Amino acid sequence: MSNETAGTLRSQQWFGRQDKNGFYYRSWLKNRGFPQDVFEGRPVIGICNTWSELTPCNTHFKTIADHVRWGVLEAGGFPLEFPAMSPGETLTRPTAMLYRNLAAMEVEESIRSNPLDGVVLLMGCDKTTPSLLMGAASVDVPTIGISAGPMLRGVYRGTYIGSGTNTISMSEQLRAGEITLDEYHEAEACMHRSHGTCMTMGTASTMACMVETLGISLPGNAAIPAVDARRNLLARESGRRIVDLVRQDITMSKIITRESLENAIRVNAAIGGSTNAVIHHIALARRMDLPMSLDDWDALGRNVPCLLNIMPQGNFLMEDFFEAGGLPAILRELGENNLLHRDALTVNGKTLWQNNENAPCWRREVIHAFTEPFKAVGGIAVLKGNLAPSGAVLKPSAASDALTKHTGPAVVFSTIEDLRARINDDNLDIDEHSVMVLQNCGPKGYPGMAEVGNLPLPPKLLKRGITDMVRISDARMSGTAYGTVVLHCAPEAAVGGNLALVQNGDLITLDLEARTLQLHVSDKDLAQRRAQWQPLHNTPDRGYTRLYIEHVMQADEGADFDFLVGRTGSEVPRNNF
Ligand code: FES
Ligand code: MG
Repeated sequence: MSNETAGTLRSQQWFGRQDKNGFYYRSWLKNRGFPQDVFEGRPVIGICNTWSELTPCNTHFKTIADHVRWGVLEAGGFPLEFPAMSPGETLTRPTAMLYRNLAAMEVEESIRSNPLDGVVLLMGCDKTTPSLLMGAASVDVPTIGISAGPMLRGVYRGTYIGSGTNTISMSEQLRAGEITLDEYHEAEACMHRSHGTCMTMGTASTMACMVETLGISLPGNAAIPAVDARRNLLARESGRRIVDLVRQDITMSKIITRESLENAIRVNAAIGGSTNAVIHHIALARRMDLPMSLDDWDALGRNVPCLLNIMPQGNFLMEDFFEAGGLPAILRELGENNLLHRDALTVNGKTLWQNNENAPCWRREVIHAFTEPFKAVGGIAVLKGNLAPSGAVLKPSAASDALTKHTGPAVVFSTIEDLRARINDDNLDIDEHSVMVLQNCGPKGYPGMAEVGNLPLPPKLLKRGITDMVRISDARMSGTAYGTVVLHCAPEAAVGGNLALVQNGDLITLDLEARTLQLHVSDKDLAQRRAQWQPLHNTPDRGYTRLYIEHVMQADEGADFDFLVGRTGSEVPRNNF
């Protein structure tokens, strides 16, 4: 480390001072045995850790953090691990999404307020990835991401079972009386049998693919199983590499650009990724002052086929994806077919294309060739019409072809509690042609926009073998879910969007090809209904939820807080002593 480089290190504003403040900054850290020389110009690397026993998907991050630490030390850096709020998908009520922005705020402020020159983000479970990326983006120091990696395959009595996907299907089987409670409990232990994230192409795996595509991780990051030794190697290499990035001043905004974000939309189409990625991606782009909209998602993903045979829309699991070649094999297919910005820079110093142009595929039944796609239609369709003037989304690869052009009468549920109270009633006036409508589950209405958009079907229809119906809401759904499900209707019902005005029996048309979602009620009638409309939700008097409801933006804008869009940078103008 030359003195010249040392002089430009952000951390030297703390550790390079020979005064009372410098004493505070160094002395308290010396309690852990750091000698004086580590304060004299080594790049200080924050290891931002979302380890938590409340987030079962991230419980191996203590080990991963140690591998990063060794890598940083080997490269001459000074690693300091710190915790980040970890909203776990399975336990957090009313929904982990309520806390994505809070975690992002915490990460942003933690990085900026401390003597860090670069950060390694340890992120896994669904919300932990966007929250760390968004927080880091608003500071913009050199950054490398490491994903948790997926769990080993779920296997129940000789059959693959996938996170979430089979949770949903087995729960319906239990409700239909097709399996016993003992079998249900047995499957719980069979499904999640190692550290790591959901091993379907749910939101966590989708976001891990986004991380790798954006170039903010080393190649291969997305699919290496959590407990595979190669993830430890990747962590160690990442620790070494972040020190170089600091020395070369390659900040996050030099990696994540409009081009890399466009690549991520196309990759999401090719992997059949989660609808949740749309919201997180738009929010991240706007943190970086890069314009991004639902229309970009529809336009860029529209002609990209789905190449990956994986649950929820296919048969295989993340471990198969890894063995088949992982994300590099997908990136190669896209790059060879002019669907990538090949020159996008990645954190290993090479372009995306240099990293992936020779990637092999070992199992074509898992990763299909572009010329013989798994499904012709990938991507996320963006629907517009009077039921969603600002847009709604649908994942065509998870929908039933027969329902993608459908007109039917609405059966309206005003809240998720209303649905749960009535859905099992055999007298409910509903059949397979009905369009199920759920209101008040959007960002402000729930609050937090819970994953309740894939409404359970009525048991009387399940027993007749009906497996899918058109469902429409302002909610999200788990990336592990499937069905002809229209999500993220904006504006949401809670702010008086037209979704709030739908009544039982109104005809609704979904037309995927035309990208429309139309409520067949005249503007005049809608205006009359609006005059009678009252919001259902109350804004609490205090606390985080109040802040959330007052400042969260709609889904089409990324559901970030209005005051968090953009970057503040890494400057801290004032001293603490
Ligand atoms: Fe954590 Fe799926 S619940 S990744
Ligand atoms: Mg999920």
